[in-house]
Amino acid sequence: MSELLSVKIAKAAPAGATAVAVPVFSDRLSKVDGVRKAALDRAGFGGAVGESLVLDDGERARVLVGLGPVARVGTVELRTASAVFARAVARHRRVAIDYPEGLDLDPSEGVRAITEGLILGAYRFDTYKSSTTPGLSSATVAVGDQVRAVQAGAARGRATAEAVCFARDLVNEPGGSLTPAVFAERAAARAEAAGLTAEIMDHDAIVAAGLGGVLAVNQGSAEAPRLLKLTYEPNSVGVDDVVEGDLPEPDAVDTVALVGKGITFDSGGLSLKPAESMMEMKCDMAGAAAVVATMCALPALDVAVKVVAFTPMTDNMTGGAAQRPGDIYTARNGTTVEVLNTDAEGRLVLADALSLAADEEPDAIIDLATLTGACMVALGQKIAGLMGNDEVFNGIVEEAAAIAGERVWQLPLPADYRKALDSPIADIKNIGGGRYGGALTAGLFLKDFVDDDTPWVHLDIAGPAFMSEPDPGNPKGATGFGVRTLLTLLEQWGDEVELLEELAELEAELG
Ligand code: BES
Ligand code: MN
Ligand code: ZN
Repeated sequence: MSELLSVKIAKAAPAGATAVAVPVFSDRLSKVDGVRKAALDRAGFGGAVGESLVLDDGERARVLVGLGPVARVGTVELRTASAVFARAVARHRRVAIDYPEGLDLDPSEGVRAITEGLILGAYRFDTYKSSTTPGLSSATVAVGDQVRAVQAGAARGRATAEAVCFARDLVNEPGGSLTPAVFAERAAARAEAAGLTAEIMDHDAIVAAGLGGVLAVNQGSAEAPRLLKLTYEPNSVGVDDVVEGDLPEPDAVDTVALVGKGITFDSGGLSLKPAESMMEMKCDMAGAAAVVATMCALPALDVAVKVVAFTPMTDNMTGGAAQRPGDIYTARNGTTVEVLNTDAEGRLVLADALSLAADEEPDAIIDLATLTGACMVALGQKIAGLMGNDEVFNGIVEEAAAIAGERVWQLPLPADYRKALDSPIADIKNIGGGRYGGALTAGLFLKDFVDDDTPWVHLDIAGPAFMSEPDPGNPKGATGFGVRTLLTLLEQWGDEVELLEELAELEAELG
């Protein structure tokens, strides 16, 4: 948790920069300034996104940064390439990047992506290092005459990256120090500072609210559980509405509910995990971290929709009072649940949070959870599983993820697979029969706790929340996955809804 990189916008690279990024298109390799194609070939640099080549003659390093073919450069490529650059120059203090010429892209959007990439690439978690080498402190994006035009984009990029880094910090914090109480306090403090309303439910409040799933998972723990509720209210009348004057009364704003799995450490409970699988289980609150961090950024991004968030927080431990395989509890909505595997705990806490979310009568619900190893078996470490009860809303979230550069892939929720969760003695059991389709049965379990009429998307982020090896876009450890998708979605919410209304009208006209 070190200082975030300061990103500045200027006409040109400052004199003090000791390294400058030179953006390179893979289909323009003959034009890289001063360096022959043959030399690039020998160095193994082809200009693809993710590649970089440092040319350092002692004065000022030039860093060739691959962007791929020029016609295909968008915000995703700019963000990743900028992160790669920031990592390549990690030992410099002040660096600069030239905004690439010839892009078919709004420069403000481009600068936003570069700003995000630079800050995310420079991220380090060194809270527990007794000594650290000084890292990057500032980066300048040189944009020529467009300084004014791109400032807003840079500010949005900063707010977004700050949120992603906050999520990473929370996830990288060990389970022993980020207890549910600490997590809730830290999140609430930051949210209130940002202008949100925060309510923390402690153990007694959780008992009073009948959150049976949170309590069942918490039974084996020495740490009390929490449930954090955050509320963001947009400024109800936008400036634009007032200026236009003759516009009809704006409709009441929509409400979106977010839910995030906040298992601060998952030992598996009495269905204990093997040591190998437990090592990264501090990451099991990454869904809650992404939700909390997203919420904190909504005011800065002036999001126009109301958003409420519910994040249940507990660890999953093996104390003497731990729930036993075979135990039955009653969930908040009255459903009785037979817990046959205490390691399938995420769905138990999410079920209660989803039923709290439903009480807000939201227009849509999204939950994020490091829910199943099975999802990683299906999609690997870099792609999240997306499931939902509404194809249109699934598509909207997919689109937001694509823009945000976070990879998701839709998995089905087959109605006939629900049988696997039938319990002979309770309303539902918490695991499906065999070894197969575990991501889907987990999704189907959650589906029982949301209203069929409320569009709902479940993102299983078990893979991309935490990287065992770095990749071009992400460091080793916590990634903050989900924050950018949620922010992209919520920033565009009004437009999305308008688009859907237009479509509906069009369909009605066409009969
Ligand atoms: N937190 C785990 C899922 C997980 C695995 C997250 C790997 C991140 C990386 C979850 O609580 C879990 O243990 N799921 C079980 C469910 C099973 C018992 C039905 C799993 O996937 O094995
Ligand atoms: Mn588990
Ligand atoms: Zn878990």
